Amino acid sequence: MARPYVVLNAAMTLDGKIATVAGDSRISCEEDLDRVHRLRASVDAVMVGVGTVLADDPSLTVRRTRGKNPMRVVVDSLAKTPRGAKVLDGSAQTIVAVSRRAPRRNVEKLRAMGARVIVGGDKEVDLPMLLERLYALGVRKLLLEGGSTLNWGMLRQGLVDEVRVAVAPRIVGGEAARTLVGGEGFAKVSDGVEIELKNVGRVGADLLLTYRVKGWRGA
Ligand SMILES: NC(=O)c1ccc[n+]([C@@H]2O[C@H](COP(=O)([O-])OP(=O)(O)OC[C@H]3O[C@@H](n4cnc5c(N)ncnc54)[C@H](OP(=O)(O)O)[C@@H]3O)[C@@H](O)[C@H]2O)c1
Repeated sequence: MARPYVVLNAAMTLDGKIATVAGDSRISCEEDLDRVHRLRASVDAVMVGVGTVLADDPSLTVRRTRGKNPMRVVVDSLAKTPRGAKVLDGSAQTIVAVSRRAPRRNVEKLRAMGARVIVGGDKEVDLPMLLERLYALGVRKLLLEGGSTLNWGMLRQGLVDEVRVAVAPRIVGGEAARTLVGGEGFAKVSDGVEIELKNVGRVGADLLLTYRVKGWRGA
């Protein structure tokens, strides 16, 4: 199956959280935000789960550097993306990927807002199908910007090639706070996704770790 090259990027605290218990996800330092915007300008599309749209209302555009806005992709089984969401503001092309369970009325509303709707999957969005469709639309490099649940869905199915994590010098705790990867999780460490450290750097006050995904036994 031809699919885009996928880079998962996130900012997390030293204790692995990508948001606090209250949902505050402003973890990156200014320099790291600049880096993320440069990264966005270098990809064809940027993708998030609907949980991130509902929690953060990101615009996913390039604002802190020059460059073109990538296509925006929201993974949203039930087409719940609110009409007022910034991803539907028309400043870049937006695709909402929904499952066959999505109420037709919601889908029509999204289309009326100018979004392209891709349908696939009985319960959740069929991610391999979505990546194949994106590839057919010309997407060769895709930036996955979370959140926790979508990161799991993508990693579990072997759909991530590279992981870049900015580790902020903060510890926020909280059992309910979202971590880099959520979902069901693997029972054994040896079943986990194997990654290889490629680079260690500093971005402002943050530590930037870059890994190549080697695979895992389920791949
Ligand atoms: N620090 C960072 O870098 C960063 C970046 C992004 C997000 N965040 C934080 O992460 C949190 C949101 O994470 P989240 O886990 O709640 O939501 P999420 O990962 O953004 O979205 C997950 C949702 O996507 C939908 N989905 C549809 N098909 C799926 C599939 N095949 N696999 C996985 N998900 C699928 C599901 O909702 P439906 O069933 O309704 O479709 C699922 O609940 C927020 O607090 C946000 O601030 C932090």
